[in-house]
This record gives sequence, C-alpha cells and structure tokens, in this order.
Amino acid sequence: MSSRQNAVSGLVIDHDLSDANTLALPSRAERFWHARVERDVIDGLELANAQGWPITVVGGGSNLLLPPAVGGLTLRADIEGTTFRAGDGGAVHVEVGAGVGWHALVDACVEREVWGLENLALIPGLAGAAPIQNIGAYGVELADVIDWVELADRRDSRVHRLERDACGLGYRDSIFKQELADRVVITRLGLTLSTRPRPQLDYGVLRDRVATTPSAREVFEAVCAIRREKLPDPALTPNAGSFFKNPLVTEATASRLLRQAPDMPHYPQPNGQVKLAAGWLIDQCGLKGRRKGAFGVHDRQALVLVHFGGGTLDGLIAFADELVDIVHARFGVVLEREPRRVDASRG
Ligand code: EPU
Repeated sequence: MSSRQNAVSGLVIDHDLSDANTLALPSRAERFWHARVERDVIDGLELANAQGWPITVVGGGSNLLLPPAVGGLTLRADIEGTTFRAGDGGAVHVEVGAGVGWHALVDACVEREVWGLENLALIPGLAGAAPIQNIGAYGVELADVIDWVELADRRDSRVHRLERDACGLGYRDSIFKQELADRVVITRLGLTLSTRPRPQLDYGVLRDRVATTPSAREVFEAVCAIRREKLPDPALTPNAGSFFKNPLVTEATASRLLRQAPDMPHYPQPNGQVKLAAGWLIDQCGLKGRRKGAFGVHDRQALVLVHFGGGTLDGLIAFADELVDIVHARFGVVLEREPRRVDASRG
C-alpha cells in the first residue's frame, strides 16, 4: 500500500482501496479519512466542507463498486462498541458502532441467546452499512429489528438520530441510498432484539435444516451452512453478494411469465406486485457459470458476479449490462443493479 500521511491529522493522500472492496476492483482514494470516534467523523466532514470536496463513505466494501480513482474525500467510520441493555418483556436493546463487523455482532447476540439477527448470519460488511441497503436474508430484514440510526450530517457537522420510520427502509433500499447519499456518515445503530425465542423459519430450506424448536445458535449455524453452499467467500473469490435486486413486476407480467414457465419462483407482495428471482431468470438464460475475461456468473448462484482478477469497474459493468440485455430479451424484465456504484467523475 503506497499512501502518505498528510500534514492534516487523519488525512491520507492516495490511499489504496483494492483491499477495501470485496470485489477487489483496483481503486485508489485521492484522499482518505479514517475515523474511529464520532468527533473524527465530524472533523473529516468539516475538512471536506472547508475544501469543497465531495465525500464517499466506505465500510467493509462488500456492496460497493469502486472506480479506479475516487476523488474528493473517502471516509471510513470504524466506530467500535456494542452494548446490550435489558428492556421490558424480554426485549434487549442493542447499540452498536458503525465499525463493528456485522457477522461478529450476529454471533455475539446468538452467544447470549438473544433472538432477531440469527437469519442474517454471515452477511459480509460492517454494521454501519447494514441500513443502507436494509440487509435481508432468509425471511428477515434489518427493518424488522432496527429502532434508530445515528449519523453525522455534512450540512451542519452534527450527529443526528433518525428513528426507523424516517429511514425509508424498503427492499434493498433506504434514505441513505437516496436523499442522504454522499451527505451523511452512519455512526451508530440501535436495535431491539429479544430473549424470547422467535425463530423465523418461513424460508423453506431453513425449516428443513433445524429442529422444531431450535436454539438461536442452531438457526445461525443452518443459515451459515446454506450460505456457504451457495455463495462464494469474498476472501477467496472476490464478489459483492447479489449483483442484482430481485425485480418487482406487475401481476400481469408475472402471470404472462408463469404461463411460459409455471415453475418460476415468484413471491406476491402486499402491494399487489410480484417479486421474481433474478438468479432464476439469469440461470434460465443458461448464464450460470458464464465467464468473460475477468468476470463471471457464479456457478452455484447466478445472482452473484465474481471477479477472477485483472478486471476493472468498466469491464464489470459491461459484463453485467450484457446479462441484463439477455434477460430482458428473453423475459421482458429489466434487472436493476444492487451494489452502490461510486461515481468516478466526483472530485
Ligand atoms: N435460483 C435459481 N438459480 C440460481 C439462483 C437462484 O434457480 O442461480 C432460484 C432458487 O432455486 C430459488 C430462487 O431462485 O427458487 C431464489 O433463490 P435464493 O433463495 O437463493 O435467493 P435469492 O432470491 O437468489 C435473495 C437475496 C440474498 C439472500 C437470499 C436468501 C436479493 C437480491 N438477494 O437471493 O441476498 O441471501 O435471498 O434470503 O434479494 C445479497 O443481498 O447479497 C444476498 C446474498
């Protein structure tokens, strides 16, 4: 890593981000700011404001598409600390710093037999990134357990608390991906979990893998096993998890497709739309395991794109666009990208 410390404390010039994104795309931050407490985050934002720099916030880099050069100020908030406080009726209030590893948090909860996060085991990344895409897996999403998000806002250089209902949490979406993108840095989360067993086993395969009344640890282990079977470990095979969102279509579109393929996985939503499985659509086009140059479609889960090395963001986008075109030509459904793309032109 070649970067040099600048006179301004905390600021690093020309910082390598290749190891800081799980797709291992080559990338360098023109200026990098590593914050370890809220005050550092504010200092970074004030510096960016004073200099007129745009900001890019990075966490574990597991849901990020980085260009070769990131201008402005790239900020990482490695705020540590997890506290557990007992509430009424078995409730457990958890406060967690943005820099705590998500999986480590889930493990710590399961260790205490505290329920609520076990289905979200083995999701890569840091706790602070979890609300951005409202992480979800195996029938549970962060929105089910989150109470508030604390964030530092560059508009007033202060930390604010946003209650859950103000966070705009939806399927792989939030206010942090929309209005507040590139303006705030998430510093801390508050969750309410429970000591009372509440296994969520609606995701079929999961129910088959555990006892009728499983412990939180048992559910956690089953989720880890399922994920290890299907999803590539980013430490071994660079990837960013699901590259596409599962598309939401109208009931009419779903019915049309079901006439063509009655076995198509489909999930009716409360608002009348129907969610389809992007992985299934890609798989049906015969694209699972397809490789082109540095990138490929994972051979066990077609929703995940993998980087074999030597590629760049442009190559990845071109590869993904080809998949989108093929799926569109076959099914008339447009797949939307899931990871957040950092704008190359900023700065
Ligand atoms: N399918 C295929 N072929 C494939 C992949 C999937 O036929 O290559 C079929 C499966 O057989 C199943 C359906 O598609 O009938 C759905 O597949 P799966 O249950 O594996 O889940 P997914 O919809 O592909 C979503 C999340 C995952 C999450 C799983 C489990 C999104 C974009 N992805 O995947 O999240 O782990 O459900 O809940 O919603 C992530 O976001 O990075 C991620 C891994």
